[in-house]
Amino acid sequence: MEPVKPIYLDNAATSHPKPESVYLAVAAALRVGGSPGRGSHHLATTADRLIFETRELLAELFNGGHSEQFIFTANATAAINQALFGLLQSGDRVVTTMVEHNAVVRPLRELEKRGIEVVKVPVDSVTGIVNKSALQKACLHQTTRLLVVNHCSNVLGTIQPIEGLGRWCHEHDILFMVDGAQSAGHLPIDFQHLDVDLFTASGHKGLLGPQGTGFLYLKEGVELTPLIYGGTGTNSRSDLQPEHLPERLESGTLNLPGLAGLHAALQFLQHTGIEQVHSRETQLTAKILDGLQKIDRVKIYGSDNVMLRLGVISFNLEGYDPAEVAFILDQEEQIAVRVGLHCAPAAHRTIGTYPNGTIRVSPGYFTTETEIECFLRALQKVSARSS
Ligand SMILES: Cc1ncc(COP(=O)(O)O)c(C=O)c1O
Repeated sequence: MEPVKPIYLDNAATSHPKPESVYLAVAAALRVGGSPGRGSHHLATTADRLIFETRELLAELFNGGHSEQFIFTANATAAINQALFGLLQSGDRVVTTMVEHNAVVRPLRELEKRGIEVVKVPVDSVTGIVNKSALQKACLHQTTRLLVVNHCSNVLGTIQPIEGLGRWCHEHDILFMVDGAQSAGHLPIDFQHLDVDLFTASGHKGLLGPQGTGFLYLKEGVELTPLIYGGTGTNSRSDLQPEHLPERLESGTLNLPGLAGLHAALQFLQHTGIEQVHSRETQLTAKILDGLQKIDRVKIYGSDNVMLRLGVISFNLEGYDPAEVAFILDQEEQIAVRVGLHCAPAAHRTIGTYPNGTIRVSPGYFTTETEIECFLRALQKVSARSS
């Protein structure tokens, strides 16, 4: 059976489709109105309740303790910026990896100009996995304040071995931050177990919410200087920024329709179970890897062990510029894949695909087997053309 087109294989950029309940929740929130924390009329308090419940759902999903430790942001990038600029000061040292997204790389570059030392630890040039001992060794310096690691690479799907790093960091008086943009919603994650101090994620990728949503989790006791100051709907008599979370880091009107959608998405994930999502996506990833291996001229990047990776698969077709393949898939087959450097040029330098990058396919929970078969057939056709 032919799948319904277009076929969307770019879930690493943003998930699509979303659960039906997400569309309904966004529309309902827009129609009902009310601004969370602004006023005491029932529309405002209903909006407030919805925001509170969304935080509670996040706290439950990630075993994050008190829900006020979850700060809503516009996306993962905003959360990362708040974390890094809110924490680091001149003289601090940060250790990170060579597979970070520009959402981490660029703020750190800017912070370097402000007197912060940044140390980047190389990763394996095939799997993209960072060596834990190398990371720990790089951290052993008096001024190291923070270790920031990408949980799952948006180029290679590599899951970094972050288990135990939180505890190790704390034994050495270092804060531990994880960029979970590609892992949240795809992989069971327990903040208490990982002992993370800061965790950032998009609400619109694996968490299946609308674009314009993201969050920053802060372990109790971790203090940040706000990036944005202003009205919070609380303690309006004072001209000082509130001290308590989440208001301290959430000035301005929140994205109620987006967060209403995220609320519905989190309920969907809670009901489905992250283990079930992970297992389904692992199946789809294995099917893609297996199919790609059978196509002439395809070179796959990253680990071939599906247990060490998530559903972000980079490959190239020998004899083709990756952009050409993506163009053919899009124009002739209505298949949407992502091509290029994926905002992570250092990762591409590491695997030898700089500057043209790779073709990246990323299935999601709702991707079907038929869609994958259709994509593999289409790629097979392109490969056959060049023989
Ligand atoms: C690893 C990683 N970090 C951060 C981001 C930034 O996420 P957002 O687009 O939600 O700001 C992305 C987006 O692709 C990503 O893949």
